[in-house]
Amino acid sequence: MKFFIDTANLDQIKDAQELGILDGVTTNPSLMAKEGITGKNNILKHYVDICNIVEGDVSAEVIATDLQGMIREGEALADLHPQIVVKVPMIRDGVKALKYFADKGIRTNCTLVFSPGQALLAAKAGATYVSPFIGRLDDVSSNGVHLISEIRHIYDNYGYETQILAASIRHTMHIIDCAKVGADVMTGPLSAIEGLLKHPLTDIGLEKFLADYNKGN
Ligand code: G3P
Repeated sequence: MKFFIDTANLDQIKDAQELGILDGVTTNPSLMAKEGITGKNNILKHYVDICNIVEGDVSAEVIATDLQGMIREGEALADLHPQIVVKVPMIRDGVKALKYFADKGIRTNCTLVFSPGQALLAAKAGATYVSPFIGRLDDVSSNGVHLISEIRHIYDNYGYETQILAASIRHTMHIIDCAKVGADVMTGPLSAIEGLLKHPLTDIGLEKFLADYNKGN
């Protein structure tokens, strides 16, 4: 399973990178705004700063919602850095843009996916990644992890190579549950990733080992 961090915060990206388990970064306009990164030029520069920290894929989102606008913005984003993956919303023109980018060899991440049908369309259009938002489904009493398993089933039926990127992960159990049902990638906050580290028996065991070692010294 690939681990992406879902933030535009450079310190958190560095922390995750230093942990040695980071495979990429996802961002969106809301995450950029949260870090105070606004204005086209600042946002573009921030993408390059992120690419210079991590070794893996960095998703950068188009703002346009019409085909020509998405193509223009997506090509400019892809030109920024080889690690950039163009993030395209699951709308009618977005599907056309995914197909256009696939034909041009530009990698994409289809975002704002909430149903198996949307994921099927994204795969048919040649998306590199599909991003079902599992936390937001849980927020409205739908089972986000179940959507991941449905998409896995459909993609495996036909051998689609689009990678399932479980997004809107909120906590550690989301990561475990997505791993169980076969998500290819998860993207979430640093806190959810670090939660995987923790177990009280590890802390108690280590304390005992060190205490016993020190008895002889
Ligand atoms: O990766 C998608 C993500 O940024 C949305 O997360 O927590 O705002 O639903 P959230």
